[in-house]
Amino acid sequence: MDDIISLSKRRGFIFRSSEIYNGFQGFYDYGPLGSELKRNIKERWSQRFIRERDDMTSLDSSIIASPKVWEASGHVSGFSDPMCDCKETKTRYRSDQIFFATVTTVGGNKLYLSVVEDEEAEMRKAAKKILKKMKKEAETEITTTLEELVFTNYMDVSEEEQALIPSPATQTMTLTPSRSFNLMFSTSVGAVVDGSSVAYLRPETAQGIFTNFKACQATTRKKLPFGIAQIGKAFRNEITPRNFIFRSREFEQMEIEYFFRPGDEEVWRPVLNDWFRDCRQWLIDVGVDESRMGVEVHAKDKLAHYALACEDVTFRFPFGEQELMGVAARGQYDLKQHEIASGKSQEYFDDELKEKYVPQVVEPSLGVDRLFLALLCSAYAEDVQGGEQRSFLKFAPSIAPVKVAVLPLIKNNEQLMEVAKGLHKKLAKRWNVEFDAAGSIGKRYRRADEIGAPFCITVDFETIEKDNCVTIRDRDSTEQTRVKLEDVVGWLEDEIEDY
Ligand code: GAP
Repeated sequence: MDDIISLSKRRGFIFRSSEIYNGFQGFYDYGPLGSELKRNIKERWSQRFIRERDDMTSLDSSIIASPKVWEASGHVSGFSDPMCDCKETKTRYRSDQIFFATVTTVGGNKLYLSVVEDEEAEMRKAAKKILKKMKKEAETEITTTLEELVFTNYMDVSEEEQALIPSPATQTMTLTPSRSFNLMFSTSVGAVVDGSSVAYLRPETAQGIFTNFKACQATTRKKLPFGIAQIGKAFRNEITPRNFIFRSREFEQMEIEYFFRPGDEEVWRPVLNDWFRDCRQWLIDVGVDESRMGVEVHAKDKLAHYALACEDVTFRFPFGEQELMGVAARGQYDLKQHEIASGKSQEYFDDELKEKYVPQVVEPSLGVDRLFLALLCSAYAEDVQGGEQRSFLKFAPSIAPVKVAVLPLIKNNEQLMEVAKGLHKKLAKRWNVEFDAAGSIGKRYRRADEIGAPFCITVDFETIEKDNCVTIRDRDSTEQTRVKLEDVVGWLEDEIEDY
């Protein structure tokens, strides 16, 4: 993870927001390469899930909507995480991120220790130090060994037992009881700031789709089943933003609400399965390492307030296996809530059945930033080339932020530079390409490899004196192919756009 964070900063993928003021926790800026990679991710997603399908349409709704939307959707009352504070250190914890273990003494007394880590191995590592200190300070000998510790989530025990768990920061009883913390950022709209001016930054893009369902259906005249896709910013005042861009306070979502006839699991299960399969395949196609992907089916008691079922595509990040995207069956919940709260019918007239009904939905939801991180982790590679260690990014050509680096063999030959610049200009009309004439060819290859440019094109003396061909070098295999100058665009088209 450290290598990835440092490469991201060094090569201009991701910077901490407000770096010159020592950063602002939970917010990030995407640099020249990061913004390009993000654009490509969104572009490929739109291509696969909107343009290539005739049952999909798109939307770009406002970030701030009437607060009534969030009251109706249940976010004002229910979109919260449990949290507790350490009274001594003022550290704030998400209660469900606290794990504890019990330790027994010779006399059979029970003591507790607590940690905040994602992975079992990390928990044990953190607990090692704590247990050592406890053993040193205990009045009665502690018999529990590190290997015997069993970690339990704070949220999985009764309030009585929660009251016995120490703060992970102090290992003493300085933790406040758990309480709900609403994750929505609020702001005020209009000149007068009072209770009636409160509005929220959307915590999901989905609600804009629900509130525009009727308008989109009427204007596109789409028949069910059909879906509306939206890409846009979402904001959550996460209690503990962490793991780089994995959990941030401002992020982008790519969401689809797929509307179809109401019915029980027999009706929605096949729709959920199809979307899950198609989304998973797309993730693989854009370069997520399949061997690091998994599935998590949410237990019924852990579902969001609106969901009938939810299945996640997970990814093994360096800090543990975590949700990458989710596909949820939201039933008729949202449209019905908006129908009741607004008093406006959300029914659809099915002219096959000659019947009106409120459709149900399946929702594939994916975070652009989280996918960005999964792609960086999947692409990061190291090998040895010509006896030298190289680190490079194996991005799929379709999402690579720079597709090609054009390299004139030397820069003090006018004719060679002219051909190289001409080629660069021609390619720049189609793709994001770089021109690099500084340093040895070997150094320029390394620079291009490090930012994940799939191809380097060298213009050399043979190009201008002999065969009008250039050398195209493949980033991963480093194999070189001679291609006629006039065939370069077609050659690249096949490699970049066909995935
Ligand atoms: N509309 C449903 C919804 O928002 P979610 O599981 O809360 O469901 C969907 O979020 C996706 O959005 C997640 O799978 C993840 O990819 C992304 N996401 C959620 N919270 C995030 C955060 N704080 N930072 C980055 N990405 C986040």
